[in-house]
Amino acid sequence: PAATLTIDPAFTIAPVNRRTFGTFVEHMGRCVYTGIYEPGHATADEDGFRKDVLELTRELGASVVRYPGGNFVSGYRWEDGVGPRDERPRRLDLAWHSIETNEFGLDEFSRWCAKAGVEPMMAINLGTRGVPEALDLLEYANHPGGTTLSDLREQHGAAPYGIKLWCLGNELDGPWQVGHKTPTEYGRLAAETARAMRMIEPDLQLVACGSSSSKMPLFGTWERDVLRETYEYVEYISCHAYYGNEDGDTASFVASAVDMDHFIESVVATADHVGAELKSSKKIGISFDEWNVWYSDRSRCTDGPADQWEVAPRRIEDQYNVTDAVVVGNLLISLLRHSDRVGVACLAQLANVIAPIMTEPGGAAWRQTTFHPFAITSRLATGQVLRVETDSPTISTARYGAIPAVDAVATYDAGRLSIFATNRSTEAPVEITVDVSRSGVTTVDEAVVIHDEDLTATNTAGDPDRVTAKPLDTRLADGKLTITLPAISWVAASLS
Ligand code: AHR
Repeated sequence: PAATLTIDPAFTIAPVNRRTFGTFVEHMGRCVYTGIYEPGHATADEDGFRKDVLELTRELGASVVRYPGGNFVSGYRWEDGVGPRDERPRRLDLAWHSIETNEFGLDEFSRWCAKAGVEPMMAINLGTRGVPEALDLLEYANHPGGTTLSDLREQHGAAPYGIKLWCLGNELDGPWQVGHKTPTEYGRLAAETARAMRMIEPDLQLVACGSSSSKMPLFGTWERDVLRETYEYVEYISCHAYYGNEDGDTASFVASAVDMDHFIESVVATADHVGAELKSSKKIGISFDEWNVWYSDRSRCTDGPADQWEVAPRRIEDQYNVTDAVVVGNLLISLLRHSDRVGVACLAQLANVIAPIMTEPGGAAWRQTTFHPFAITSRLATGQVLRVETDSPTISTARYGAIPAVDAVATYDAGRLSIFATNRSTEAPVEITVDVSRSGVTTVDEAVVIHDEDLTATNTAGDPDRVTAKPLDTRLADGKLTITLPAISWVAASLS
C-alpha cells in the first residue's frame, strides 16, 4: 500500500506550544520516593534528587510538570510538606493506600523543577479542602513577603516561586476521588476558588477539571455544567485519557489516537457551546493533563490488604513495549494537531508509575520504549504546527471502524521541516511519498523509526536499550520524500 502526504508551510494550525510536552509527578507509588528523590542513592545531589533521573528528564524534553496529584491531591494538606523535615507528619494516603512521609513537598519540588529546567504546574486540593487552603498555598508559593505565609517560605530559604499554572482539583467526577462531587458542587467551588485566587494574582492560568475519561457517565454534561459555573474564571478545562491493549485487540489499540482526536474535539465543541450560551468571545483551551498508555494493574491501585500501609509501594509500574511506544508517538501527533486548542498536555507520569523513566531503588535508571517518541517529538517539533493533507489506505478496527492507516503532523521553523508519522496497520508496510516541494527543503538531516519485529520487546534494567529509535532509510528527490513505514511503526524526520 502507498500513501501521500502534502505539506505546505502556509497550512498553519498554531505555534507549537512547549507546554504540550508536559509530564506529571504524583505522590504515588515510587514516582517521588526512589523515583526523582532518593537521598543516599549513588547519584543523589545535596537535595537528595537523583541526578540520573534529572538528566533523563532533561533528555526527555519535559517542559511543564504537574504536581502533586492526581488522586493524591484530593486528600493532601500542602503544609505537611514544608518546614523542618523531622517535624513533618506521616499521613495515610487514601488515594493509593499508602503512607506519605512528607519528606518531599512544595519546596523540594520547586527546587527539583529549577534543576530539571521545567515549569511547575500545581494542583490544589478541592476534594477535602476549599478556598482558604488554596489561598494559603498561593500566598506561600508566590507572595513576595510581609505576610505570615510568605515569610514562612522565606524562612524555609526560598524566594517566591511565581507559579502561574494551577489545576483546580483533580478528577472530582470520579467516585474513587476523596471528596467526589456533582458537576454543580464542583463547578461552584472551582469558580469561587478561581475568583479568590485571582484577587491575589489576576494573571494566573487556571484549569477546571473535566471528566476523568470520555467513558464517564457524565462526560459532556460534566464539562458543560462545570464550564457554566467557571467559564469566565478559567483558561482551560482538563482531559484525561489512558489507553490499553488489555483485550488483545491490537488493531484498535494502535488506533487509540482516533479516540484522542474525538475526545479533544468533543470537549472543544462543548466548551464552545457554553461560550455561545454565555455570549462570550473567550475560547477555553484544553489541558490534557493526564495521558498515556496504561493497561496492567489498574485494579492494584488501592486493593492491597486493608491493614497493609506502606511507604512508596510499587504501584502500576507498567513495562512498555514497542507497540506502546508507537501509540504514544501517535497520541503526540494528535495533541500537536490540536495545538490551536490544546495549551497544556502532561504525559502521566514521569518516573516508575506508568512512566517513561524507570528506576531501581539504589540502582539504575533507564528509558522505557515510550521515552523515545516523546523525547524526539519534543526536540524536533518547533515553530508552527502544519496541517498535513493525507491520502492513506484505510484499515478496519473493531473499536473505531475504518480509519486511515497513516496519521501525520508536521512542524515548520525557519526553513526546518519536521514530519511525524505513524503506520497503524498491524499487517502491511506503507510507502509514503511526502510532497515537501513548497517547504524549500533539500536535505534530510535526521530520520528515525520506532519499530521492532518483536512487538512485545521492552527495555529493562538488564537490557535498557533493547528498543530505541533506529535510522530510517529515506529518498529525497524533486521535492518528494519517500519513506517506508513498517506495520505498527512511528517515524520522525527533520529536513532543511
Ligand atoms: O496517573 C494515575 C492516576 O490516574 C491519577 O492519580 C488520577 O488522576 C488518574 O485517575
